Amino acid sequence: MRIVSIGAGPAGLYFSLLMKKADPAHDIRVVERNRADDTFGFGVVFSDATLENVAEADRESHAEITGHFAHWDDIDIHYRGEVLTSTGHGFAGMSRQLLLDILQRRCAALGVRVEFQREVGDLSAYADADLVLAADGVNSVVRSRYAEHFRPQVDWRPNKFVWLGTTFPYPAFTFLFKESAHGLWRVHAYRYDASMSTFILETTEETWRRAGLDQADEDQTLAFCERLFAEELQGHRLLKNRSLWRSFPTVRNGCWHHRNVVLVGDAAHTAHFSIGSGTKLAIEDAIALARALQRHGEVEKALAAYEEDRRPEVERLQRAAQVSLEWFEETERYHGRLEPIQFAMSLLTRSLRVTHDNLKLRDPGFVATVDRWYASQAEQQSRVAMPAAPPPPPMFTPFRLRDMLLSNRIVVSPMCQYSAEDGTPGDWHLVNLGSRAVGGAALVIAEMTDVSREGRITPGCTGMYKPEHLAAWKRIVDFVHAASPARIALQLAHAGRKGSTRRLWEGIDEPLADGNWPLISASALPYHPHSQVPKAMERGDMDAVRDQFVRAARMAEEAGFDMLELHGAHGYLLASFISPLTNVRTDEYGGALVNRMRFPLEVFDAVRAVWPRQKPVSVKISATDWAEGGLSAEDAVNLARILREHGCDIVTVSTGQTVPDQKPVYGRLYQTPFSDRIRYEAGIPTMTVGSIASYDDVNSILAAGRADLCVLARGHLYDPYWTRHAAYQQGWDLPWPDQYVSVKSFTPRRD
Ligand SMILES: Cc1cc2nc3c(=O)[nH]c(=O)nc-3n(C[C@H](O)[C@H](O)[C@H](O)COP(=O)(O)OP(=O)(O)OC[C@H]3O[C@@H](n4cnc5c(N)ncnc54)[C@H](O)[C@@H]3O)c2cc1C
Ligand SMILES: Cc1cc2nc3c(=O)[nH]c(=O)nc-3n(C[C@H](O)[C@H](O)[C@H](O)COP(=O)(O)O)c2cc1C
Repeated sequence: MRIVSIGAGPAGLYFSLLMKKADPAHDIRVVERNRADDTFGFGVVFSDATLENVAEADRESHAEITGHFAHWDDIDIHYRGEVLTSTGHGFAGMSRQLLLDILQRRCAALGVRVEFQREVGDLSAYADADLVLAADGVNSVVRSRYAEHFRPQVDWRPNKFVWLGTTFPYPAFTFLFKESAHGLWRVHAYRYDASMSTFILETTEETWRRAGLDQADEDQTLAFCERLFAEELQGHRLLKNRSLWRSFPTVRNGCWHHRNVVLVGDAAHTAHFSIGSGTKLAIEDAIALARALQRHGEVEKALAAYEEDRRPEVERLQRAAQVSLEWFEETERYHGRLEPIQFAMSLLTRSLRVTHDNLKLRDPGFVATVDRWYASQAEQQSRVAMPAAPPPPPMFTPFRLRDMLLSNRIVVSPMCQYSAEDGTPGDWHLVNLGSRAVGGAALVIAEMTDVSREGRITPGCTGMYKPEHLAAWKRIVDFVHAASPARIALQLAHAGRKGSTRRLWEGIDEPLADGNWPLISASALPYHPHSQVPKAMERGDMDAVRDQFVRAARMAEEAGFDMLELHGAHGYLLASFISPLTNVRTDEYGGALVNRMRFPLEVFDAVRAVWPRQKPVSVKISATDWAEGGLSAEDAVNLARILREHGCDIVTVSTGQTVPDQKPVYGRLYQTPFSDRIRYEAGIPTMTVGSIASYDDVNSILAAGRADLCVLARGHLYDPYWTRHAAYQQGWDLPWPDQYVSVKSFTPRRD
């Protein structure tokens, strides 16, 4: 086989040596524009897992590579005068130049021809090759040449960074956070041989400009950085090597292969340096591609198999890298607001790949410190004494909202059951909510309950608009209070333009076959094109709806609910005012966010005025519409800030469901970043909801300060005893009701 690699970086060299080793008859050329000893960057990082792959693929280069490693287990975080150390992280670094030397030597020994100082512009010279490897890095010319097939997307990130080296031999993977008059600087530093470390400096574009670095050449950059970090460098020097300020491009491609041309390494994809090195990905690509070619005789088939094999892994890593790079873009949000131990926890768990449990395995001492700190905060916040040792897992700490005390951080999300008779909840609701309260959650939020008959989503929705409702709800509230320590909240709502539709299992958001009732909304816009067109509310309608909310709130107080939640999310009536996609009014209730919030706030204020002072009120919001022109995360921060100013105690941060053509990005904990942002930037407690499935995720979210409470919906449909099971798994003693005390002598098997 005739193989040409454009580029002699790690991807091109490693692939070439693997192929030549597999079959010396292959004719392999590597074409490289630089000289053999020309390299940028300083050190590269490998995780223990990557090294295992390298060992298996080529023992010779593995032996040489590992002979030159600097290995470390610790991560040191320098923050506001403290150094926080977390251990057990298992990484190794080496010089990039040395790595390339080893790979070049191995290629030469095997008979791969490497042609240096040859720039490839035109691919026609390689038309007779059986395989063309586009290993030409982040600015790949091959990728550009076949752009219509590869469909590249390059997302240029806003932060600025520069790769430097230093003679300071960092003993651990080190993050430095340093404030200067210009702003906040972040450093990612790690040792790659006995005496040298990589030192990547990153900051926001504003800070970079304020420091005048947009005008600086390499020497001026170096001088600036040495001054800034004089104390940390302890007399050591920084070194340059084509150390230009850059923005990080996240590269993705719609397709990685076209006929006999294939993308590998940075040409195919990049992942931010904060999550591991591109070198690791490049080498793993080379291994996967060589294996695919050995397995499939035909080149095109092998290239398809390579992409199928690698793409899911790369995309997983890119998703984690995205959350990680955003953390570094938004560090100002945490800096100064978080105490050092929580800042460290937030940093270490930023990509969601490292969790509270992972860290506990690696470094139990660090996690015990985090848990102790978290418990002491909870003790202050809730005014409830905590056991001194061992500290409770974060999810089993108490939380107070006004006079309502929650015994832990788990909340049952409101979930419509579509099983009411003209709004009256019945036995189903009693058993549904009652069993979840007994199941250990600290707060149970009863489903979206409508303030009028016309405000219901479906004929099966619960209401709080006639006297029978009060009695029926009181029965449920009394049961919850008598049978468990759980508190119970009622979610009050009006369905607006999403009303008069079928039960979930009969066709969600679809108009009723018959018996429809008239709808109202912020504007006369139907949900689906075939949905009923709602009436745009007039002042009289607003007064009527506001009064219905007030009536329902009074009834809820009489029924004994501990908290109210106003449903301002998911496109229902209050949300229809808030989103610009559903509110196109030209009066004082439309236009800017403050106007769009006017009516929801009138309702909130009126409800707050009649709801007892000692009881809290929350509002559920959609923090983004996931649609062009819709509500953004920034709007959501302003929205939450205004709610806080009006006396809202906590917001439940959900997203979307405003318009049917939304484009949500689902995934594990996909709504938690919105909660994190709102909690810090709007300065209000938050409940996070959405694809939370494990107690480990709950502990990670809480300990890192991404929310105050964790809300599970489907998790609680699946398992009403979710909190009890989580307690068992963590060895935490959650008292059982008297009727069930015999469970104490029973050992469940959950394998
Ligand atoms: C400035 C900078 C510094 C970096 N420093 C580090 C670091 O210290 N540690 C680390 O782990 N990662 C570093 N990286 C990232 C890392 O280099 C890549 O993720 C990794 O090297 C990807 O390997 P690759 O083989 O795909 O591409 P590369 O290593 O980029 O190799 C591509 C090769 O193709 C050659 N080439 C490109 N176009 C042509 C052409 N038209 N004709 C001929 N040859 C061509 C290039 O000269 C280069 O040698 C750095 C990246 C940049 C941009
Ligand atoms: C059957 C069902 C009914 C729901 N009803 C409501 C509701 O009444 N009010 C509400 O705010 N959200 C409602 N939701 C949304 C959930 O409360 C929650 O925000 C969403 O399901 C994401 O959480 P999860 O991933 O834990 O399920 C409902 C969800 C389900 C699955």
